[in-house]
Amino acid sequence: MVSLFRLIFGIFLDMDVPSVILNNGNKIPSLGLGTYMGEGREFKEAVKYAIDIGYRHIDTAMIYGNEKVLGEAIREKIADGTVTREDLFITSKLWNCYHDFDQVVPACKRTLKDLGLDYVDLYLIHWPVAQDLRTGAVIKKHNLVDTWKGMEECYNLGLAKNIGVSNFSTKQMLDILEGASVLPVMHQIEVNPHLTQKEMIGFCKERNIAVTAYTPFGCLSGAWNRPGQPNITFKHPTLIKIAKNYGKTTAQVILRYLIEVGTIPIPKSINKNRIKENLEVFDFKLKSEEIAEIDALNKDYHAIEVNRLLAQKKMIRFREERDITVDTYTPFGCLSGAWNSPGQPYTTSKHPTLVKIAKNHGKTTALVILRYLIQVGKLESWENKEVYDFELKSEEIAEIDAMNKDYHDVTDEELDVSDDYPFKNEIF
Ligand SMILES: NC(=O)c1ccc[n+]([C@@H]2O[C@H](COP(=O)([O-])OP(=O)(O)OC[C@H]3O[C@@H](n4cnc5c(N)ncnc54)[C@H](OP(=O)(O)O)[C@@H]3O)[C@@H](O)[C@H]2O)c1
Repeated sequence: MVSLFRLIFGIFLDMDVPSVILNNGNKIPSLGLGTYMGEGREFKEAVKYAIDIGYRHIDTAMIYGNEKVLGEAIREKIADGTVTREDLFITSKLWNCYHDFDQVVPACKRTLKDLGLDYVDLYLIHWPVAQDLRTGAVIKKHNLVDTWKGMEECYNLGLAKNIGVSNFSTKQMLDILEGASVLPVMHQIEVNPHLTQKEMIGFCKERNIAVTAYTPFGCLSGAWNRPGQPNITFKHPTLIKIAKNYGKTTAQVILRYLIEVGTIPIPKSINKNRIKENLEVFDFKLKSEEIAEIDALNKDYHAIEVNRLLAQKKMIRFREERDITVDTYTPFGCLSGAWNSPGQPYTTSKHPTLVKIAKNHGKTTALVILRYLIQVGKLESWENKEVYDFELKSEEIAEIDAMNKDYHDVTDEELDVSDDYPFKNEIF
């Protein structure tokens, strides 16, 4: 059965998205729809619209929490005859808390149950980091090869037609490749004009592993803005100039660039105009000098911060030495009670120093702590705008400094850089 929508509009709306052949001979559409942060009715309608106009590749993950609603959208489009299951390429990802060999197949089955599908087209290890399901602590001794063996089980059982990895370093990829009986077909990484990833793309190309470009707009879209980010926007003159040459938007130029440098971009949008705009990138081709101009915008800047649960003494020191702002976690320490442990320093949100400073500014003690962390460069940003409309005096900062007990809520064991730390061989 062919849907009425497709009969009436299909000819005008469907864009043909070329495929990329994977190292096992399977195909993947060379552009997909990202779904991070997508939820609810608006998201469901956006996905259905995307399928209507020709998107066939959709990227999700267990941790996005949207697999149920995404599955509903997909199944409705199959039921109304717009597509068959075989027309679609659905990617999902194994979350960090299910890295034990025995946990991988059940996690994949849970994803399939949530999606309401019999298989995913691609299943990826989301991050090369194992975390404890209960506490979120990084499991340092974990062997990623065990996780890969679980991924191979998913493949052998037909739960995943293809398997791959995401956010791996080259060393971690080599470890997997060495013992693999099923080769990874894909590496999903952040690629955009701020982060051109030439080395990693070259590494994957040499090994015939395809690359998906996530967060294709980096912080250009505003979605991932942080203080101190490279100053490139959709209005960057280089992008505007190139876009004018083709009568395209700068977003389309970026997506075209990503395709031409050999990656598969997965832009996320829940806006119908932008969903359509992002698909209309197969009717022009950039010149090599234009690609070189966009290459030159690279700042090796990751819009997506390495999982903030992965505490990072060495990373923080590395960044401080280079004057790069650092993020922090557990900003309230044991003040919140969440991390209380016997023998902790007796500091609460009612500590007289904090209460006094909070009163000076008409703020809560929590806001004072956040403001302190921002001013001393330990926290890059915080969603709550009330953190940005006041400034602590230097003597107040000194007073809070004096509360330091060198006490870690999360133990040193957890704080050390894990062997599985992403990008480790990029940096150390
Ligand atoms: N493997 C991983 O660790 C990992 C990490 C991050 C992301 N991902 C995947 O990659 C996907 C894409 O990355 P992302 O969501 O981080 O960021 P993105 O796709 O680079 O940017 C999304 C943002 O750009 C806006 N946007 C979309 N199209 C636009 C256009 N044509 N013009 C202007 N703005 C536009 C969207 O807003 P509207 O929705 O309002 O249009 C949204 O705010 C994710 O959704 C997820 O599926 C994977």
